[in-house]
Amino acid sequence: MIIAVDGPAASGKGTIARALAAHYGLPHLDTGLLYRAVGIGVARAGGDPDDEADALAACGFDIALLGDPALRSEEAGPLASRVSRHHDVRAALFERQRAFATQATGAVLDGRDIGTVIAPDADAKLFVTASVAVRAQRRHDELLAKGEDVDAAVIEADLVARDERDANRPEAPLRQAEDADLLDTTDLSIGAAVQRAIALVDARLKDRT
Ligand code: CDP
Repeated sequence: MIIAVDGPAASGKGTIARALAAHYGLPHLDTGLLYRAVGIGVARAGGDPDDEADALAACGFDIALLGDPALRSEEAGPLASRVSRHHDVRAALFERQRAFATQATGAVLDGRDIGTVIAPDADAKLFVTASVAVRAQRRHDELLAKGEDVDAAVIEADLVARDERDANRPEAPLRQAEDADLLDTTDLSIGAAVQRAIALVDARLKDRT
């Protein structure tokens, strides 16, 4: 069974994907981390994230980089979004994601294009959203908890700019797949959002049988 979870920045998709993976006993891949690794790799190499060749050169990163806390920093998000626009970068990361999705155990993947490009054949697809204000607040709380005190207005501006870039790129833009269920978490606690996500997936699985 493949579960695809997509949505804009800080919508709660990562938390929901992890909870679904635990609930159904499936491995989970946060695909945003791959793009964050490329973005941070380019920056560390002194390259230009807007340059396709520089970004492609960072795609062969060591798997250990995925555990680096710098990937989850506020500065890594926009870098990831910039490198993720390049065709060659998306192509270089495609196989790794597709192999994870199609492993025998089944899998949960979260990102921007899982239901549309990486696993259009997924058994259940969720598109997780929340208002910009709530998403900015959540990201602010998350960063504060890690001791990173970034101005709330800066975070909100980053989310809006990133969503805009992700939704308007020519390749694999952020969008809800036609057969995805929409889950708006604006007014939901984490527990309530997870319960709703499980109910939506269960309904899809029942439909299938
Ligand atoms: O955690 P957050 O939602 O802020 O971001 P993320 O999921 O870690 O993704 C960081 C960036 O990587 C996004 O803004 C996208 O530009 C890019 N990305 C993508 O293009 N395709 C994916 N499947 C996942 C992430």
